[in-house]
Amino acid sequence: MSVPNTAKLKAQFDAGLETRADFTIDQPMHRYGAIDHAVWKQLYTRQTALLKGRVCDEFLEGVERLNLSPESVPSFDAINEQLLPATGWRIVAVPGLVPDQVFFEHLANRRFPVTWWMRRPDQLDYLQEPDCFHDLYGHVPLLINPVFADYMHAYGRAALFAHDANALPLLARLYWYTVEFGLIRDAASPNGVKIYGAGIVSSKGETLHSQQSDAPNRIAFDLERVMQTQYRIDTFQKTYFVIDDFSQLFDVARTDFAPLLARLVDATPLPAGEVRATDRVITRGTGEGWATNGDV
Ligand SMILES: [Fe+2]
Repeated sequence: MSVPNTAKLKAQFDAGLETRADFTIDQPMHRYGAIDHAVWKQLYTRQTALLKGRVCDEFLEGVERLNLSPESVPSFDAINEQLLPATGWRIVAVPGLVPDQVFFEHLANRRFPVTWWMRRPDQLDYLQEPDCFHDLYGHVPLLINPVFADYMHAYGRAALFAHDANALPLLARLYWYTVEFGLIRDAASPNGVKIYGAGIVSSKGETLHSQQSDAPNRIAFDLERVMQTQYRIDTFQKTYFVIDDFSQLFDVARTDFAPLLARLVDATPLPAGEVRATDRVITRGTGEGWATNGDV
């Protein structure tokens, strides 16, 4: 998903595009063909219909304010015209996954790297690496929300610190269980939750699994608990962590991570599906039906 895996880098950067030192490129609009735009439209239309009543209001507001449209792969420049004045964030095009430190430096400077290319028509439901649909439709709408924007900025700074302190797994888990697979409380929704994580938003299967399946645990967000919890990248999530509202992320953004990382860096991580006596459990999962996923 979007916590970068440096092992995959070389192959993905061989796209014949001129890459800057910070791994960004100019979005090559001329390379998008009819198939790319059709795939964008199909995914956009399908997910927008599926997310109705399931995704948080802040996401929908972001889609509207950014003028996202199903018609074609968006121009990143056009998105930045709305995004930059609102929260100081802008998106930058990249050929694929970028090294950890580069990714975090972008975040710490309010730049979100967006993979420029679109998946193929036979990859609508399954894709191991982030493409433009995941990165843009999944991640960018919340960057126009001021609280989430500040959270992402603080995350980037904390991740840089963790990188230097050899504590990156702790921050990778926080990203995974919030930015990628976060749920938010909503009493009127199935299982009392709505969706905000990009890995859910951009995936048909995980949209349904996260909100409506009986299989996964849904546990109230707790920063230290999340940072200690392992995750799986090859299945739907066994556990989702649920924030009460975005003010919880505001609190996380103000956390002094240095002492926290020092205390947790050597702690034994918790298995992905474990429920602890100290957890505030919203729904306890049956564990059944954990299908192989792999999409983003
Ligand atoms: Fe992502």
